[in-house]
Amino acid sequence: MKNTLPVTRYYGSKRKIINQIWEFIESENLEFDSTLDIFGGTGTFSYKAKIEGKEAHYSDIFKFNTLIGKALIQNNTHKITDAELNFVLTKDDNFNYKFFIKEIFSDIYYLEHENELIDIMVQNINRLKNYYSKYIAYYALFQTCLIKRPFNTFHRKNLNLRTNDVERQFGNKVTWEKSIEDLFRKFCIEANSYIFNNNRKNTATKSSALSCTKTADLIYIDPPYVSEKGSHVDYHSRYHFLEALVNYETFKDYVNFEKLNHEVKLGKTLEFESKTSISNDISSLIQKYNNKIIVFSYRNKGIPSIKELKNIFIENNMCCRICLIKTHSYALNKSNKALGEYLFIAKPKK
Ligand SMILES: C[S@@+](CC[C@H](N)C(=O)[O-])C[C@H]1O[C@@H](n2cnc3c(N)ncnc32)[C@H](O)[C@@H]1O
Repeated sequence: MKNTLPVTRYYGSKRKIINQIWEFIESENLEFDSTLDIFGGTGTFSYKAKIEGKEAHYSDIFKFNTLIGKALIQNNTHKITDAELNFVLTKDDNFNYKFFIKEIFSDIYYLEHENELIDIMVQNINRLKNYYSKYIAYYALFQTCLIKRPFNTFHRKNLNLRTNDVERQFGNKVTWEKSIEDLFRKFCIEANSYIFNNNRKNTATKSSALSCTKTADLIYIDPPYVSEKGSHVDYHSRYHFLEALVNYETFKDYVNFEKLNHEVKLGKTLEFESKTSISNDISSLIQKYNNKIIVFSYRNKGIPSIKELKNIFIENNMCCRICLIKTHSYALNKSNKALGEYLFIAKPKK
């Protein structure tokens, strides 16, 4: 068992501060046996809860994230074998492959031979018999795809940043140029080493936060960050390509060809992503779980403000402690107000 999950390139991951988050929770001497991580992302919080022996429930709006949750949180014992890993990477001459990625994303995110290999790998993953092997293979494929992208996202058509022969002040050309095969093997081995059994029935489900039917003693809320200035790239725009991979047979019907990056509209929603409605969404979620312990990750200079969030807890009959986890002093931050990571720990008023 490891202390935290491996490094991933996911926007908003709490990996670096998860141990501090947990220390603050422990310092409150709260009694809880189960947790619900309702904006699960990379699974950092659920993995920590799993390590701590809790029944860990993970949920996220995206299917690709949910498969990561199934691989690392729900899965207590299963590891992918070398034979399965080789099967995923090998083109089967007797199988009639489709090449949707190559057809639709040509010259957008990856080189032609890489697109072709991604097509083959997805279809081979779907042919694996064991479900958990499938989830682990998907996890490794997502990490591979992310690490080979400039800035690790899919919201721009910018393959040229990789292929132009210029000196760069950013990015990591050495990593971009590692082969998909080598990266995939590395990430499978890495995932295997993180799988452990806490002897609890942990789960991972795909759901929007407001329609999630799960519950637990402690609800962890880490919603998308919407800055008060409003320059906001939503999660769907950043990661739509990974959602397309896990919907391989149907995603073609959702491609927006008017956008240069051929964004796949599958699963796009404004819930918790819109400047005008995020405060209401947060309020509805807190109301839904106001008889539980709520732990809320918050970054300032966002919507709602720290004061507004505090009021939402009070209006919902909860008392809360606000803890400062750390401040960022980015060189680019021109205003005097430092960016800070906070934790609200709330419980029902007696
Ligand atoms: C700040 S990230 C969470 C990061 C996570 N705690 C971690 O450490 O990796 C927010 C997550 O919310 C998910 N998300 C966005 N809108 C959502 C919604 N309406 N319902 C549920 N999840 C949503 C995104 O897919 C993203 O993974």
